[in-house]
Amino acid sequence: MNKELNLAYKVLNNVYFKGAYASIELNKSYISNLNFNLVTKITYGVIDDDVKLDYFVKQFYKKAPKKEVTLIFKLAAYLSQNINSIPKFAVVNELVEIAKHSKLKPYVSFINAVLKKIVNAEFVLPDTKDKRLYLSIKYSKPLWFIDLMLKNFSDDFVVEFFEAELTNLTHIRVNTLKIKYSDFVSKLKELDIDYTTSTLDDALFVEYSKIVREESLNGLYTPQGIPSMIVSRNVVGNTILDACSAPGGKAVYIATLNPNSKVIACDYYEHRAQLINDYSSRMSVENVTTKVLDATNFVPEFEGKFDCVLLDVPCSGLGVIDKKPDLLINNDLDFLSLPDLQLKILENNSKYVKSGGSIVYSTCTILPTENEDIITKFLQKHPNFRLDTVDTFGVLCDDKGGLKTFYPHISKTEGFFIGKLVRND
Ligand SMILES: C[S@@+](CC[C@H](N)C(=O)[O-])C[C@H]1O[C@@H](n2cnc3c(N)ncnc32)[C@H](O)[C@@H]1O
Repeated sequence: MNKELNLAYKVLNNVYFKGAYASIELNKSYISNLNFNLVTKITYGVIDDDVKLDYFVKQFYKKAPKKEVTLIFKLAAYLSQNINSIPKFAVVNELVEIAKHSKLKPYVSFINAVLKKIVNAEFVLPDTKDKRLYLSIKYSKPLWFIDLMLKNFSDDFVVEFFEAELTNLTHIRVNTLKIKYSDFVSKLKELDIDYTTSTLDDALFVEYSKIVREESLNGLYTPQGIPSMIVSRNVVGNTILDACSAPGGKAVYIATLNPNSKVIACDYYEHRAQLINDYSSRMSVENVTTKVLDATNFVPEFEGKFDCVLLDVPCSGLGVIDKKPDLLINNDLDFLSLPDLQLKILENNSKYVKSGGSIVYSTCTILPTENEDIITKFLQKHPNFRLDTVDTFGVLCDDKGGLKTFYPHISKTEGFFIGKLVRND
């Protein structure tokens, strides 16, 4: 049996049918004597190509089979089109074996027959005349996502957005509370871990699967994207509130950059707030206090108390889909109600800002309805706030009157939005 294929199938089963996250599942399943790069490639390949593979395999049956059978078909299609090291006959044999040893045993002859067709067929894109379907299959994104993009952006922009290829390397922040940047780089060299520099002077790009297995580096770095770090760098002051904080990536960086300030980090969910505590301890940060709070509820003792309030609000996450493709598989992504929640959070937390203080509003989506529209609606009702400039530390962004959107094809980062408001009165 092909051990890599078996493990990838197990991981995919947990992602598709048990709501697991691919990265966590892969980490848990690590086995050193396997070709783990291949397991990772197959797992993410199938997840990334889910929409495309679904379209392709549907051509080979009339009645939709059990979803577990469809996953076997998708896996076969992915392998035969992308992984030359496993011959087509072996793909069929291995997957039939997997089916035989699972609850899919009664369907083995059907699976065998369809698999043989799948591995020998060629993938053909739909006609460009059907623009929605063509884009959906070509970029393997659900139709609703394509519709949203076409509604908000020009056709050319949408194509450029989906064509953008970000590096496979992971952006990490060096924990300068514990190690000097130059010493961290020397450690990477000693450990023979390749890296490239970042536009940010306390960060690097590394091969994550290598660095994560180096226990000697624990606590000395953390994965954190460029826009996420830029959000934190725009938050300044002695008293700081992070109202939607878990797992604490931005709060902990803010606390690192401002060691003399007091950072209050809140989240609606208790178990998520605990993640902030764990993360603060791991990164040796002592100036973060965690609270479980609903950001839509007014807290009288916070009124007018903060130099800066960070609102990294719950959002559709469509800017980070390429880095977390399983978001599209695990979630029903019901985000029509998000703008109301986002505006409510902004309205409520604006009361906590001192005169002359600021609000940093951010999302990891590129949809205007969750970004500039929220800020515009807020400013119409609150003339005591004005827009301030967001510093993007040299990263090229779309700039609408100071509101910055990071698009993968422009910024070479994941999609993100940052707006900054200052209280005048
Ligand atoms: C985008 S995430 C925050 C990520 C975080 N800032 C970081 O950098 O690690 C949004 C967070 O808002 C929390 N959340 C959702 N609804 C909330 C509410 N009504 N009040 C407070 N937090 C909420 C979610 O649990 C989630 O942890």
